[in-house]
Amino acid sequence: MGTFVVRPRDTTCHALLYAAHDAFRRDLDRLAAAVAAGKGGAAHVRAGWDNLKDQLRLHHDLEDRLLWPRVERAVAGRPAEAAVPAQMRAEHARIGPLAARVDAVLTDPAPVDGRAVAAVAAFREALEAHLRHEEATALPLAESLLEPAEWRALAAEAEGRCAAGAPLFVPWVVDGIAPVARSRFLTALPGPVRDRNRVAWEPRYRKRRLWST
Ligand SMILES: [Fe+2]
Repeated sequence: MGTFVVRPRDTTCHALLYAAHDAFRRDLDRLAAAVAAGKGGAAHVRAGWDNLKDQLRLHHDLEDRLLWPRVERAVAGRPAEAAVPAQMRAEHARIGPLAARVDAVLTDPAPVDGRAVAAVAAFREALEAHLRHEEATALPLAESLLEPAEWRALAAEAEGRCAAGAPLFVPWVVDGIAPVARSRFLTALPGPVRDRNRVAWEPRYRKRRLWST
């Protein structure tokens, strides 16, 4: 597979990071709606939740291993800016246990009740606050510091690390999004990746009917 994105650095950032944030928000809406309707235990909801957890793990791994180290090198000796990636890592670490609580209530054989709604609300609140914080501070900082060559290197490393996840990542990002956002995201991908998504990845993803109840 070709490198995800090798063009302008803002496109790289958008394709790999901001678009995933929007997909997390969409899935949080779906999760909250399913649990509020008492359908947190439905098979397609569970499958949607499992995919959300996988995507979140991949996304945080990419940021913690590939993005923040580059930012940390660039801000060495500047404590105020160096605190930003440290805050992002700490927020990532806090979200894990909240996801585990959602897991526990969704797999509980007892009827879904207020505990599920509360666990999802806590997870959603923490993830949403983190996404906002990252978009307001850490991602603009990264965009201001990293040169295009560093973004290209990051994209190449991400490809090596995440290539196996692309057949799920690409259709997950464009699932249900507005046509303009969809075409902006797909256009930023290399042609062969876009073609594979159209003929194989997206049809396969749709058949799974994630979140449908
Ligand atoms: Fe992020």
